Amino acid sequence: MVCFRLAPVPGSGLLLLCLVLGAVSSYALELNLTDSENATCLYAKWQMNFTIRYETTDKHNKTVTISDLGAATYNGSSCGDDQNGPKIAVQFGSGFSWIVNFTEETSSYSIDSISFSYNTNDNTTFPDAKEKENFTVSDRVAFSVPLNDIFRCNSLSTLGKNDVVQHYWDVHVQAFVHNGTVSTKEFLCDKDKTLTTVVPIVPTTVPSPTTTPSPKEKPEVGSYSVVNSNGTCLLATMGLQLNITDDKVASVININPNTTNFTGSCHPQTALLRLSSSSIKYLDFVFAVKNENRFYLKEVNVSMYLVNGSVFSIANNNLSYWDAPLGSSYMCNKEQTVSVSGAFQINTFDLRVQPFNVMEGKYSTAEECSADSDLNFLIPVAVGVALGFLIIVVFISYMIGRRKSRTGYQSV
Ligand SMILES: *[C@@H]1O[C@H](CO)[C@@H](O)[C@H](O)[C@H]1NC(C)=O
Ligand SMILES: *[C@@H]1O[C@H](CO)[C@@H](O)[C@H](O)[C@H]1NC(C)=O
Ligand SMILES: *[C@@H]1O[C@H](CO)[C@@H](O)[C@H](O)[C@H]1NC(C)=O
Ligand SMILES: *[C@@H]1O[C@H](CO)[C@@H](O)[C@H](O)[C@H]1NC(C)=O
Ligand SMILES: *[C@@H]1O[C@H](CO)[C@@H](O)[C@H](O)[C@H]1NC(C)=O
Ligand SMILES: *[C@@H]1O[C@H](CO)[C@@H](O)[C@H](O)[C@H]1NC(C)=O
Ligand SMILES: *[C@@H]1O[C@H](CO)[C@@H](O)[C@H](O)[C@H]1NC(C)=O
Ligand SMILES: *[C@@H]1O[C@H](CO)[C@@H](O)[C@H](O)[C@H]1NC(C)=O
Ligand SMILES: *[C@@H]1O[C@H](CO)[C@@H](O)[C@H](O)[C@H]1NC(C)=O
Ligand SMILES: *[C@@H]1O[C@H](CO)[C@@H](O)[C@H](O)[C@H]1NC(C)=O
Ligand SMILES: *[C@@H]1O[C@H](CO)[C@@H](O)[C@H](O)[C@H]1NC(C)=O
Repeated sequence: MVCFRLAPVPGSGLLLLCLVLGAVSSYALELNLTDSENATCLYAKWQMNFTIRYETTDKHNKTVTISDLGAATYNGSSCGDDQNGPKIAVQFGSGFSWIVNFTEETSSYSIDSISFSYNTNDNTTFPDAKEKENFTVSDRVAFSVPLNDIFRCNSLSTLGKNDVVQHYWDVHVQAFVHNGTVSTKEFLCDKDKTLTTVVPIVPTTVPSPTTTPSPKEKPEVGSYSVVNSNGTCLLATMGLQLNITDDKVASVININPNTTNFTGSCHPQTALLRLSSSSIKYLDFVFAVKNENRFYLKEVNVSMYLVNGSVFSIANNNLSYWDAPLGSSYMCNKEQTVSVSGAFQINTFDLRVQPFNVMEGKYSTAEECSADSDLNFLIPVAVGVALGFLIIVVFISYMIGRRKSRTGYQSV
């Protein structure tokens, strides 16, 4: 026999951020499964929400986000037996069901598959749904964790398939708990490993359709920084405009710094700046060191929600932009374009970045982009041309003056 305690706890740690973003409350789900001896055999605590797209009777696509899992039940969760592995089964709302199962290997266990079901028959959650039936999406995760370790991922993880995008964060899970004691040894997901300052990225209600504020408008300049134990280690000031050309539908999106979160990490050879917002899952700028004395923008990795709810993701780790000597910053006031792919470009305005060797939280001397220095080069030319022109004007006036005075003499 298996018994379990369940405790949906409001995500108190996230309350402040939720209020700031005006997002709906999020609930931490917690499950402590015990075996016949009352010893814990599976422990999990996590948060999740779901964004579902469906077709309406008038042939439009609608998107809903399910994030209130307050009254969840855990029927069908089990520690497994000889035939079946452990699984967590959660039911909430009107006909939602979420199941994850685990498998044991010799020295590790796997988070095997995640399956999510929803019923569009519920006309309050899915108003005007064309098809009224039960849908199920299943994803093979096959994520391996060392046996006797607890898996932790505070960062946002996303699973997207068909019409459903699943978000998970603040995840703690250990299957195959031995001796009834949940491990204190954490096995971190890659994202938690790279981020020194982990800001829980809370997805808001509906991934707001990427609004297009008149494209020609210049984006507002934002100031971003990354802090590690030694203080500020990365600085960036820039106005960003994203240009997506997908399916011949171009959309130009200005990033609003007021509603953009940022985080990142600094290492000796690489530095990361990550921006995110309700419509941008992540926009990563990865800087690297080359030839031991210069830095450059090496990689851009982006994932964002399009108007119709689908997710647009592109990465290029073979870029070469914003190149400047280590110990200085890179500056470009003119509009510049970072071409990530044929379908994705970033236009930058009033750019200044320093991903390495930041001293006392301030920018070091700037190396200017060629566009700006062309401008600087043009100034002496312009001054020369103006001077030459002035000389000609003075000379002509002098000649006219002379001729006039000569006429004056003749009339006398
Ligand atoms: C899980 O439940 C058992 C038995 O009720 C308890 O001893 C243990 O402390 C709980 N573990 C956690 C992490 O809540
Ligand atoms: C397990 O705990 C329940 C109450 O929580 C108790 O009634 C039961 O006797 C315990 N079983 C064992 C084997 O300790
Ligand atoms: C886990 O569930 C999936 C379907 O959701 C199933 O295909 C798979 O066989 C299950 N794995 C185990 C080990 O039970
Ligand atoms: C939802 O369905 C119920 C019965 O299935 C019906 O009584 C109700 O009017 C419907 N509501 C809307 C808004 O369509
Ligand atoms: C479980 O307990 C036994 C005896 O107390 C100990 O030898 C063993 O190492 C423990 N296993 C784990 C995984 O903690
Ligand atoms: C902090 O600075 C010290 C001395 O410069 C350096 O050895 C150390 O690696 C730095 N730590 C981090 C996290 O950057
Ligand atoms: C966006 O990209 C397309 C295709 O590369 C290009 O034709 C267009 O001029 C770009 N628009 C802006 C505002 O940069
Ligand atoms: C951002 O906030 C500043 C100050 O609160 C405000 O002046 C500015 O208009 C805001 N920008 C946008 C795009 O909302
Ligand atoms: C959403 O729009 C993108 C680009 O316009 C397109 O590639 C994608 O197929 C669309 N998805 C759906 C489900 O309509
Ligand atoms: C882009 O980011 C995603 C999610 O963090 C990651 O899985 C992927 O490997 C990254 N791509 C590149 C080229 O780094
Ligand atoms: C990276 O870009 C350079 C030129 O920009 C090109 O020669 C090289 O083949 C690219 N490498 C990969 C792996 O795409």
